[in-house]
Amino acid sequence: MPSDEGVPARRAALQMLDAVLRRGQTIEAAATRATNLAPVDRALATAIAGETLRRLPDLDALIDSATRQPLPDDSKSRAVLRLALAQKIGLGTPDHAIVATALPLVDGGPRRLVHGVLGTLLRRGVTATDSCRLPGIVEDRWRSAWGEEAVLAARRQIARRPSLDLTFADDAAAEMFAQANGGRSLARRHVRVDSSNVAELPGFNSGQWWVQDLAASLPARLIPAEATQVLDLCAAPGGKTMQLAAAGHRVTALDSSRSRLGRLNENLQRTHLTAQLVVADALQWTPDRRFDAILLDAPCSATGTFRRHPEVLYRARPRIVADNSELQSRLLARAAKWLKSGGVLVYSVCSLEPQEGEERLADLLKNDPTLEMRPPLAGELPAAANPTGPGWVRILPGLLEAEGGLDGFFMARLVAKG
Ligand SMILES: C[S@@+](CC[C@H](N)C(=O)[O-])C[C@H]1O[C@@H](n2cnc3c(N)ncnc32)[C@H](O)[C@@H]1O
Repeated sequence: MPSDEGVPARRAALQMLDAVLRRGQTIEAAATRATNLAPVDRALATAIAGETLRRLPDLDALIDSATRQPLPDDSKSRAVLRLALAQKIGLGTPDHAIVATALPLVDGGPRRLVHGVLGTLLRRGVTATDSCRLPGIVEDRWRSAWGEEAVLAARRQIARRPSLDLTFADDAAAEMFAQANGGRSLARRHVRVDSSNVAELPGFNSGQWWVQDLAASLPARLIPAEATQVLDLCAAPGGKTMQLAAAGHRVTALDSSRSRLGRLNENLQRTHLTAQLVVADALQWTPDRRFDAILLDAPCSATGTFRRHPEVLYRARPRIVADNSELQSRLLARAAKWLKSGGVLVYSVCSLEPQEGEERLADLLKNDPTLEMRPPLAGELPAAANPTGPGWVRILPGLLEAEGGLDGFFMARLVAKG
């Protein structure tokens, strides 16, 4: 057995952690650069980095409890200890494998220190908890926006692995799948399953369904059934395009990313659905016609997806939120001009920041008197996704928690006054 077995995956996890925390990248982007790794090692590295980010503040508290002086935040010893403890708590890696793969990462450096701290903590016994603290800055922000209960719910949500949500193109297929596979349906054409192996579930290759968090499936449900021409303005990778096409709309799906639109195209082919694809920057592009409905699922900080992508908690710095907010306002103002009289605009973001969502919508309504809110009607969304007073829908951590929860989201429907 080679003596460095398992070390390259941990070394890659260390680089991924660094890419997220210091350079603000995504784990996925960092993983694509680990080209020297076998797929199985890359998957392990991604899992270790993900578990580390999921539990970072708690891991740091453990590390600090075992050192006389706090290790510098950006020190290699702290990073290696974080990875090691995340494997113990989140992945159940045996102690001997944790130690054997951690120490080579600090060869020629603080090896004794890391060995000592790790030994102390492993002997003391560290176990998973059912609630993990989020970075203090995020907790403070969400506490002031949404209250303490939302923060406590977010802590519980990040500690558990989210279930898998599938959206079906067809009602009958969804019902049959739920019955045959023990899934739960929380909305029309939705089935929630506990499995994590997507390709092994029946119906994937035949294109009966696609993976889409229940919250992400809600905005497209607000597009009126009678709308013929629908523009999906930031469409890739296409979960909502497929919903719209499956609902019978004639969909134009636009995105500025050619590679992401390529994934959308693959998704359409797998599901045997159709849409007209446009690669363009929506800030430059102008349509040659007006639409009955437009869905703007806008680029955002994505902090609502923190359960599956814990790195968003570290990437969503004030500058990122501010830049995305500004982009959303510009996209909204343009999209509003492309509606037919009586046409409908649905705006959504998978963000838990009120600057993305409530504040953008308030600005839009102030600046464009031709638009008015059209709140969801009873039965359009699952009962738990109640509109708030002004008529928009804000999905906070804690909603449907007993059923497994859902991503944080904001959505609103507006109509162009005739
Ligand atoms: C939140 S994602 C969309 C997810 C998609 N609606 C779905 O359900 O699968 C935002 C998308 O906006 C695209 N985007 C960002 N800026 C854009 C722009 N100026 N014009 C068009 N698309 C843009 C990104 O490439 C990204 O695919």
